[in-house]
Amino acid sequence: MVHEILVWPNPVLKQKAHPVAKVDDSIRTLIKDLFESMYAADGVGLAAPQVGVLKNIIVLDTTPRQPDSRPVAMVNPEILTLEGKCTYKEGCLSVPGEAEDVDRAAIVTARYLDEQGNEQTITADGLLAIAIQHECDHLKGVMFVDHISALKREVIRKRMKKIQASMEEDEAEEAPSGKSARKSQAELR
Ligand code: NI
Repeated sequence: MVHEILVWPNPVLKQKAHPVAKVDDSIRTLIKDLFESMYAADGVGLAAPQVGVLKNIIVLDTTPRQPDSRPVAMVNPEILTLEGKCTYKEGCLSVPGEAEDVDRAAIVTARYLDEQGNEQTITADGLLAIAIQHECDHLKGVMFVDHISALKREVIRKRMKKIQASMEEDEAEEAPSGKSARKSQAELR
C-alpha cells in the first residue's frame, strides 16, 4: 500500500523513532509499503517516520544510479563507522522539489536487522552511503535541511508551507467527506 509522505516541517518529522523489538509480519508489511511508497514517489530512500510511523526502519534502492548495489531494507540501523568526505546535492521526498549540497562521509559501515530479523553488516560508498546517512538522520528527527544554512532553510520552509496549503485546499475540494486524498510527490512537482 502506498502511504502519503509527510511534508516538512510536519512536526512528526522532528520526532525520534523507536527501535523495533521484533521483526514480524507487521514489520514486513510495513517494509513492503515503504518500498511501494518510495517507488511511487520516484525516490531512492524512505524512512518510516516519513509516513508517520515512528519506528527505526529505512528502505533504500540506489540501483538506477548504482547498478552494483541492491534494494535493501534496514531495521534498527546503526552506523558503525564513517570514512572520508563527500558533498552531494541531496533531495528528500519530504521536501519536494528542493535540493541542496550536504557534506557527508564517503564510506559508511552500518549494522541492521534484515526482513528475517537476522543481523547484517553493510559497507557502502557513493549514493548508497549518502542515502544511508540521510535516512538514518530521519530516525533521529533530522532533515537534510538541518545541515544547510539557516537562510536557505527558511527559504525552503516558506516554499513547503505553500505546498502544504495547496495540498490542504485540494483535499478540501476532492474529499469533502473528510477522507484525506492521497497525493504522490510526482503530482506535487
Ligand atoms: Ni529524506
